Amino acid sequence: MITFNGVDKSFTENRKAVKGLSFTIERGEFFVLIGPSGCGKTTTLKMINRLIDASSGTITINGSPHTDVDIHELRWNIGYVLQQIALFPHLTVAENISVVPEMKKWKQKDIERRVDELLDLVGLDPATYRDRLPEDLSGGQQQRIGVARALAGDPDIILMDEPFSALDPLVREQLQTDIKALQQQIKKTIVFVTHDMREAIILGDRIAMMEEGELQQVGTAEELQQNPATPAVSASWGVFPVKEISH
Ligand SMILES: Nc1ncnc2c1ncn2[C@@H]1O[C@H](COP(=O)(O)OP(=O)(O)O)[C@@H](O)[C@H]1O
Ligand SMILES: [Mg+2]
Repeated sequence: MITFNGVDKSFTENRKAVKGLSFTIERGEFFVLIGPSGCGKTTTLKMINRLIDASSGTITINGSPHTDVDIHELRWNIGYVLQQIALFPHLTVAENISVVPEMKKWKQKDIERRVDELLDLVGLDPATYRDRLPEDLSGGQQQRIGVARALAGDPDIILMDEPFSALDPLVREQLQTDIKALQQQIKKTIVFVTHDMREAIILGDRIAMMEEGELQQVGTAEELQQNPATPAVSASWGVFPVKEISH
């Protein structure tokens, strides 16, 4: 449903941040982008909702170039979760989650119902949490609200850029388990950026490995390990304990 066709992005004249990206993300897939810092993961993700525009090539969503869609419509229909907890500090939990439904001019009653439904979905009791301010939540709870907010407008696609990497290991593991279960329940297309192979194995239906702006391979963790397409894939995945982690 999301297809990159020969996509390049240059921020400066003589250097491409990403080059020749061609791949397809299927509807309902948990798709993980992995690679070392600076390899172009965030750039790739942000091109999907046009926070960054490609320098050349096309990106289609459901078969149409995404530049044909009104840019605000496009952004409202693609949820986005960031690493740095980006809740509005002066808004309550309910108000934070309501931002997109408010912009979409939903009825107040529908918004309230949606907030409680989403709090339940991300494992927080609505009555306890809906009127709290972000500062009265733990880091893990704030990221749960970040996920709820991204889901609020019922988008088909959710982009997540290293959403759990600032959290301590136990909280992180819990959120990984929960987001995987959540995705299986709601069947949204999730594009998830990480540099953590363990996280990629736990979450990804398929994993796209990037290095220096170029896509190396797309496949399951087992495929990357057993059938590496490039020396970079082989170097990272060859000896990694994929089996132990995926079971
Ligand atoms: N706004 C920008 N201006 C100039 N260069 C940028 C900009 N954003 C990213 N880059 C460069 O593009 C490359 C890819 O960056 P990025 O997509 O953020 O990588 P990653 O998310 O994998 O760490 C890096 O070399 C980075 O310095
Ligand atoms: Mg990044």
